[in-house]
Amino acid sequence: MSNSAFIGNNLDIAATLLQKGEAVAIPTETVYGLAANALNVKAVAKIFQIKNRPSFDPLIIHLASFEQAKEYVTEVPEVFGILAKKFTPGPLTFLMKKKLNIPDLVTAGSEYVAVRIPAHDVTRALLEKLDFPLAAPSANPFGYISPTTAQHVADQLGHKIYYILDGGPCDVGLESTIIGMNDQGEVEVLRKGGLSIESLTAEIGDIKIRDISTSNPEAPGMLTSHYAPKVPLILGNIHELAKTGNLERTGIIAFNQFVQGIPVKHQIVLSPSSNFGDAAFHLFAGMRYLDSCDLDVIYAELVPDRDLGIAINDRLRRAAHQE
Ligand code: TXA
Ligand code: MG
Repeated sequence: MSNSAFIGNNLDIAATLLQKGEAVAIPTETVYGLAANALNVKAVAKIFQIKNRPSFDPLIIHLASFEQAKEYVTEVPEVFGILAKKFTPGPLTFLMKKKLNIPDLVTAGSEYVAVRIPAHDVTRALLEKLDFPLAAPSANPFGYISPTTAQHVADQLGHKIYYILDGGPCDVGLESTIIGMNDQGEVEVLRKGGLSIESLTAEIGDIKIRDISTSNPEAPGMLTSHYAPKVPLILGNIHELAKTGNLERTGIIAFNQFVQGIPVKHQIVLSPSSNFGDAAFHLFAGMRYLDSCDLDVIYAELVPDRDLGIAINDRLRRAAHQE
């Protein structure tokens, strides 16, 4: 495909392409997704091809309502029902045992499928028009920063897809929190994301965090180096780090205040009022912007480790330059 994708808000175009087995970019409250018919293996294969994504990295399926999950999973744990009632639609993804109608390509061979109910009016309306779930990873080339606007998708995948459904900038700005059940029947967090751990514990009490490393293939999307800009990103004390190197070619990602001596146009202050929601909203767009600025290095600081700060720090660590 030589021409660039069409960006628009026509649900019928999106639905028709999806029914024909094409991949379409869709807005969600977390990040933009690259969607295809989850029940059509050829359509799902296009997602992997377009993203250059390894086939061992499974996809989340998106549904209009949590009740519909019953069609695709063998059992819904009671506690998931409680959490779904409280937090869906929203940035929470549930791992449940899949039925045979979900192709192995979607789950990368796992017997578990990830299910999410996105809270975005446009995509909810689209899902209502379809009689199949949408498999959708974030709409970025594998390993790069997730897109939070239609333009972000167009910048990198525009030449590979026909249509980007525009729903404006994503409200949350971080991927969903993923939960599963461990062998003891306890809820575990597999990916820290747009729903805070505190919100979950407020509902069901203490919750385990599964220790996921590169060597643990169970959650392949959690590779140590992910969400990474091309310009090396170094984590640390930005005020100290900014004293070294060429200040004109240095970028900054700060939580709430500017760093002296660095051009303001190369600084992303995530939230001057120290609001985690605002910081999450600005993080990926800020990383992308600095990555486009012809810099030698980006210095970034961690934010306080609570609330959405936990997921923000997770993304910053994965974006950081690995020696
Ligand atoms: O907010 C989100 O979750 C976004 C929007 C588009 O919904 N989607 C998203 O998808 O972040 P993706 O593909 O970029 O990340 C999905 C991750 C996988 O990399 C993997 O870590 C985990 O979800 N995952 C999916 N299915 C799984 C499964 N069956 N078992 C274990 N982990 C799974
Ligand atoms: Mg992703």
